[in-house]
Amino acid sequence: MMEQLSKFEDYLLNNLPSSKTFHPHFQSALEDMLKAGGKRFRPMLLLSVVNSKNPLLVENSLPVALGLEYLHTYSLVHDDLPAMDDADLRRGFQTLHKKYDEVTAILVGDALNTHSFNLLANAALSNDIKIELIKVLSNDGGIDGMIIGQAIDCYFENQKLKLEQLEFLHIHKTAKLIAASLKMGAIIAQYDLQLQEKLYNFGIDIGLLFQIQDDIIDETQSEEEAGKTTHNDNFKNSFINLLGLEESINAADMLANKCEDELNTFNTQLKESLSKLLFKYLHRHKK
Ligand code: IPE
Ligand code: IPE
Ligand code: MG
Ligand code: MG
Ligand code: MG
Repeated sequence: MMEQLSKFEDYLLNNLPSSKTFHPHFQSALEDMLKAGGKRFRPMLLLSVVNSKNPLLVENSLPVALGLEYLHTYSLVHDDLPAMDDADLRRGFQTLHKKYDEVTAILVGDALNTHSFNLLANAALSNDIKIELIKVLSNDGGIDGMIIGQAIDCYFENQKLKLEQLEFLHIHKTAKLIAASLKMGAIIAQYDLQLQEKLYNFGIDIGLLFQIQDDIIDETQSEEEAGKTTHNDNFKNSFINLLGLEESINAADMLANKCEDELNTFNTQLKESLSKLLFKYLHRHKK
């Protein structure tokens, strides 16, 4: 686990995107949020699945894991923009539109989004596998995933959704990219289609749990603890605003137990590999 994370961090630092330019700050803006860190949850999900089947494939999977992190990081840069969540702090640092300007933040987001697919396309994997990976990432990170989730999140500020609709929102804005991370690992590992789907569905539950916990963090943590602007969901459809803190914690508990049960239905290698990563996430809302 730790080994995979440090491999990933090294790979990220050795492959920072280069804008080869005389622009005074675009290059540093491009690097800032990548270097700022973050949990690297999505790349670690992918690498854990790959590692469960064939540790020798981890190396060639690093650019794909990095592509996931680029797409996710772009989503954060845009999520923080004044037109969206208007947040000043991310990963312990000033957000890009605060440190530089909005144009820079918008374009860094665009660059990270585009470059994530460049990383996938250039990975040392078979073309068939790469096409499958690109399909999954563009779908779940795109119109039928993160984007429609973000669109609904922003459009329905100040308008209370039903619980079912809130779950749709959370599944799209967050869970689908998390589910895609597991599925992409399964594609690289060449697990059969049934297991790919099973991992994807498990990822939807893990991802929904992750976003409920994120809503709880917004309510309960300071910005120092979270490393990002908190108490920022007042106008949002969040679990806290719909159910209150106690019921949100109960919902997270129930889903965490469901995820643990599901985890136990995977083969030994997958179960071991995923458990090592997930144990610190499943109950993070109780910290
Ligand atoms: C934050 O994601 C946005 C959500 C989808 C909840 P993370 O909590 O994974 O943020 P980092 O990558 O660790 O900064
Ligand atoms: C963000 O959800 C989901 C994304 C796709 C980035 P939030 O808006 O709750 O994420 P944070 O709390 O700002 O990290
Ligand atoms: Mg948001
Ligand atoms: Mg936000
Ligand atoms: Mg949040």
